[in-house]
Amino acid sequence: MELFRVENVCMAFGKKDVLKNINLGIRRGEIFAIIGPSGAGKTTLLRILNLFEKPLCGNLIFNGLDAGKTGGLRRRMSMLFQTPVVFNASVFDNVAYGLKVRGFDKRAIEKKVSEALNTVGLPGMGKEKARMLSGGETQRMAFARAIVYDPEILLLDEPTSNLDPANVAKIEEIIKRIRDERGTTILIATHNIPQVRRIADRVGVLLNGELIEVNSIEGIFTEPEDERSAAFIRGEMIY
Ligand SMILES: Nc1ncnc2c1ncn2[C@@H]1O[C@H](COP(=O)(O)OP(=O)(O)O)[C@@H](O)[C@H]1O
Ligand SMILES: [Mg+2]
Repeated sequence: MELFRVENVCMAFGKKDVLKNINLGIRRGEIFAIIGPSGAGKTTLLRILNLFEKPLCGNLIFNGLDAGKTGGLRRRMSMLFQTPVVFNASVFDNVAYGLKVRGFDKRAIEKKVSEALNTVGLPGMGKEKARMLSGGETQRMAFARAIVYDPEILLLDEPTSNLDPANVAKIEEIIKRIRDERGTTILIATHNIPQVRRIADRVGVLLNGELIEVNSIEGIFTEPEDERSAAFIRGEMIY
């Protein structure tokens, strides 16, 4: 079942075309990786999907609803940015933020924050000062903040690019756990090819603003349909 559909979406900054006629269907509960070299348009696409930015053309259909004409959809999505913002407050307050702005009551907030901290492997860390956490813990806290209000879609922009391998493995576990335990549909932009193989169900290859191939994980690694995506998968493209 499709949760999200991108129809003929394009975007430009000034005279530069950054996304060209993107068509893509995202299935409920899948982990979909958007891969491509730096500058391909991955972040721009995620920002449009998160309804942060309006595309120059095309439509976003969320659960059969036109996102351009339907209010209240933002609260059903969540985006984790490449460099998370950390408030100078406790871990609890950092994670609770999205619940407070959505008007949840105190008991619901405590329950949901505690569940989210468990999911990301930071149980009982609520009282710690957020700015005292290590890099890996900070990223896990950012995940807790992103999932605490149970979004249907989680958009991840290169969530492991600043981490060492041990922390990358932990984050990959957390991504899979979020999908398995909460059924969240996850889109992840990355240029880490081995990571795609480890966690994604399907993948879309973005090159110079064009989605040149959408394939299953087996498909992209064994029989890529496009010579340029094959080269990217083999690591022959500079990025
Ligand atoms: N706000 C902006 N203003 C002007 N150009 C932008 C802006 N955001 C992105 N771009 C340009 O759009 C292209 C795609 O950027 P981006 O979506 O960040 O790619 P990626 O995330 O794949 O590295 C790049 O050439 C970038 O310089
Ligand atoms: Mg980017």
